[in-house]
Amino acid sequence: MARIPLIAGNWKMYKTGREAREFVHALAKAVPESSRRIYLSVPFTALEEAAQAAQGTPIFIGAQNMHDQLEGAFTGEISARMLKEAGAQFVLLGHSERRQHFGESNAFINRKLHRALSENLIPILCIGETLVEREQNVTQRVLSRQLEECLSGLDAHSIAQVIIAYEPIWAIGTGRTATPAIAQDVHRHIRQFLLHSSGNKAAESVCLLYGGSVKADNIADLMKEPDIDGALVGGASLDVASFAQIILN
Ligand code: PGA
Repeated sequence: MARIPLIAGNWKMYKTGREAREFVHALAKAVPESSRRIYLSVPFTALEEAAQAAQGTPIFIGAQNMHDQLEGAFTGEISARMLKEAGAQFVLLGHSERRQHFGESNAFINRKLHRALSENLIPILCIGETLVEREQNVTQRVLSRQLEECLSGLDAHSIAQVIIAYEPIWAIGTGRTATPAIAQDVHRHIRQFLLHSSGNKAAESVCLLYGGSVKADNIADLMKEPDIDGALVGGASLDVASFAQIILN
């Protein structure tokens, strides 16, 4: 089963609605024909303008987080239905910055995953180890636990719809990318985990992204690895030219 390569941008807390609209128009011109899927996850307040600008282009717009409940007394939170109505087609879940700065647990991320799937939002589940965990040689154990707890209760058909982004925390925003060999090693481990938990079809369908200091000059080597199906790009997705170069590389 061929997995279609995917390049996703994660803007974090950057860009207003107007800036998003201008960016999407410019990006659509810069990558008129790409064989790769193009996703952009933008701040909540830029969703609607970004989604309107992306109409008729190959660019998918998504959010960076959501709550697991559809409504309720959760001041400051946003639900899957709100995202969808604003134009989101996908949502990042469990980014390490959410885990680290906002205390998100695997159990909470698991509830969000169930909700995203039942509301037809494509979830991109982020997982990754810290530098200390890598140095202690517990990377695989840490990732298996994140996968087990975040994917808990999902059947093989649902798991096949999930996109998983492996983002080693030591590589995010540091300029220190995992080598293609290190990333491939982890991606193979993730696919093996999926094979054992959910069977061959799910394991072969799931699109696995690498994230952490991806740039125009390292994307090509990462994409050569058999289990790397794409990238989740932070800093380098904020500039049209650099993001377009990554998409086209
Ligand atoms: P970076 O961020 O590309 O700036 O390292 C990646 C991410 O946090 O998704």
